[in-house]
Amino acid sequence: MATEKRFKYVILGGGVAAGYAAREFAKQGVKPGELAIISKEQVAPYERPALSKGYLFPHNAARLPGFHTCVGSAGERLLPEWYSDKGIELILSTEIVKADLASKTLTSSDGATFTYETLLIATGSSVIKLTDFGVQGAEANNILYLRDIVDADKLVAAMQAKKDGKAVVVGGGYIGLELSAALKTNNFDVTMVYPEPWCMPRLFTAGLANFYEGYYANKGINIVKGTVAVGFDADTNGDVTAVKLRNESVLEADIVIVGVGGRPLINLFKGQVAEEKGGLKTDAFFETSVPGVYAIGDVAAFPLKLYNETRRVEHVDHARKSAEQAVKAIKAKESGESLAEYDYLPYFYSRSFDIAWQFYGDNVGDDVLFGDNDPTVAKPKFGTYWVKDGKVVGVFLEGGSAEENQAIAKVARAQPPVADVDALKKEGLDFAAKV
Ligand code: FDA
Ligand code: NAD
Repeated sequence: MATEKRFKYVILGGGVAAGYAAREFAKQGVKPGELAIISKEQVAPYERPALSKGYLFPHNAARLPGFHTCVGSAGERLLPEWYSDKGIELILSTEIVKADLASKTLTSSDGATFTYETLLIATGSSVIKLTDFGVQGAEANNILYLRDIVDADKLVAAMQAKKDGKAVVVGGGYIGLELSAALKTNNFDVTMVYPEPWCMPRLFTAGLANFYEGYYANKGINIVKGTVAVGFDADTNGDVTAVKLRNESVLEADIVIVGVGGRPLINLFKGQVAEEKGGLKTDAFFETSVPGVYAIGDVAAFPLKLYNETRRVEHVDHARKSAEQAVKAIKAKESGESLAEYDYLPYFYSRSFDIAWQFYGDNVGDDVLFGDNDPTVAKPKFGTYWVKDGKVVGVFLEGGSAEENQAIAKVARAQPPVADVDALKKEGLDFAAKV
């Protein structure tokens, strides 16, 4: 007979936001048996960013339990025992296939039901697949995606099976850049392919991209821009052998990694909750249009107070902070206390090879490149300010120290006025240090 379980609080999803929400529940006080996490993954919540970085190192690779949440923000590592010690039920390998918000009931693929008083939706994103657009041959073996640890293990196995082979990386965003570096570090012959005139166009300006494309080229990575993969060839085993591009060239490939974007996982709630910007619309406490139902992490479309507009953010810092805010809000409501509205400063970062950048704020307005973005310099340090309505609203910095990164975060939050853009360019990082 299918089981039925009741909880006061259910977190649906077992990723970054779920782990940080569980820790916040424990901090705020939760009684044994009150809280459950339901996740289709087989393992307790972990820091997803490790999958495209340390997990793929050729030596001393990161492995669980090393990167369970909340170590990514220098916090306590929550092992499965932590959840059982706190009386938090970790319901793993369980996919929810139906959510009925009216009856407060979730149903899993094997027919088990879970009821709740308060629900936190933390289902994150799924990858967009080339098979979604019917790209010819895209179901061949070794055409891989990266979202969870099962995908990462497939990639590690493929790298071992196709040692020193040829890899084609489709997509020039976060996954494209981080995975190209990982494959190169594993001694693959790597070619990146993307449709735009430069990599990471959602964030990078031409000046920023110039450095990263040059740096990658100097590492031996081939870059093919302005075209897309339109088909794949495979051998008699079904293993991919070549990528056919729209520009009619063909690239040999033993492994193909695809990173063409993510899609928030909100299908279970269609027609039941207000949506905006592709996500579930929330207030500044992450409560959705349905009372008692909260949305956190990648799926939340929340009021970004600083810019006075609704945004969705697909990055780990927001996943952590939105989770904490939602749990504080739930507890504050119960005790009748008030809580300040979420006031988020967007923060994104990436690392590859031995370079690392951070970005804070908003990349709108005029961009002002500072420092030396020559890809051949030994210790690169350069960045960009974005200036809108006479104020600095966003800052990007490659190669910053902890203090310098703190300084650019402060600038993005304070939005200091700029009288002279040429002077800002000349001052460069010194401008941030003075704010
Ligand atoms: P997350 O994806 O972490 O968790 C969602 C969980 O819900 C998963 O456990 C999933 O299995 C589960 N789930 C979904 N549907 C379900 C269902 N129906 N039933 C049961 N369970 C279900 N960001 C950043 O700022 N810096 C970085 O370096 C990186 N690096 C990075 C690398 C890689 C490989 C990826 C894929 C992503 C990043 N990110 C990142 C982005 C960051 O990891 C992401 O924004 C957060 O993980 C979002 O946290 P969530 O908890 O919202 O989703
Ligand atoms: P992305 O949106 O960063 O990049 C998608 C890229 O796909 C685009 O820049 C474009 O170059 C490319 N593209 C689109 N259609 C294409 C096509 N048909 N052929 C070839 N290229 C095409 O998405 P992603 O890199 O796939 O990342 C997925 C998710 O993981 C995102 O939510 C991202 O924020 C997250 N992530 C974040 C980090 C980080 O913050 N450091 C690292 C890894 C992943």
